[in-house]
Amino acid sequence: MYLSTLMLEEMESPCWSGLPKYWLWVPQAERFVSLDVHAPPVRFAFMAHRVCPWWLGYLLASPLRRWMHDPVAIVGPFVSEGMVVLEPGPGMGFFTLELARRVGNNGRVIAVDVQPKMLEGLVKRATRAGLADRIDARLVKGDNLGLESYAGKVDFALAFAMVHEAANPAALFADIHKALKPGSKLLIAEPAGHVGTEAFVVSLDQAKNSGLVLDSQPSIRRCHAAVLVQV
Ligand SMILES: C[S@@+](CC[C@H](N)C(=O)[O-])C[C@H]1O[C@@H](n2cnc3c(N)ncnc32)[C@H](O)[C@@H]1O
Repeated sequence: MYLSTLMLEEMESPCWSGLPKYWLWVPQAERFVSLDVHAPPVRFAFMAHRVCPWWLGYLLASPLRRWMHDPVAIVGPFVSEGMVVLEPGPGMGFFTLELARRVGNNGRVIAVDVQPKMLEGLVKRATRAGLADRIDARLVKGDNLGLESYAGKVDFALAFAMVHEAANPAALFADIHKALKPGSKLLIAEPAGHVGTEAFVVSLDQAKNSGLVLDSQPSIRRCHAAVLVQV
């Protein structure tokens, strides 16, 4: 348990020196993950695959992550009963379940990912929590979110730790812009350990170019974050 937390910290940390080497067994993935900060395969995995390896989805969805990223505090101000919420890149649903709880029986969460195993994990967790019928889990190829049927119907979108993985962020933001209702918001958060300030500014510019307008920059631990509005 302690190692899981440490791993999440290090995945998002720009500092790779000064910590000892640990190995973490990830049972669902049936593999060990090295926490050797001098030559971390975790880091290499991120460099080798543009998208987060699916087996890290289990760690990202760990309840231990709540002390760092409390989903209630992060999405609570934006989501209420009956809303339609879009979550590109949900992974195994760390935020999705809280979104589904908040939208209630009359709402919907559209969770769109490029990795089937991430969505399988998400659906399993949602089913166990009795929330699966509120979630539309969709597999897409590439950066087209395939949301034509939801055009102008989305009340809130969350893109947490996923924009830097998108091959074509401009296309991603254009799709999010099309899906959002006028006046509705997108919250982006990017891990500060992977995404530098300049790269985040570039992402924000791409979002603005799609027609979204910067509203605020909330504080989220170890992240760059911004709220943009569809106008
Ligand atoms: C680092 S994980 C973050 C998962 C989740 N948002 C969280 O914070 O726990 C990034 C996720 O985005 C997905 N992803 C990457 N590029 C994507 C794209 N273009 N469209 C949809 N999902 C994407 C990956 O498959 C992965 O599940």
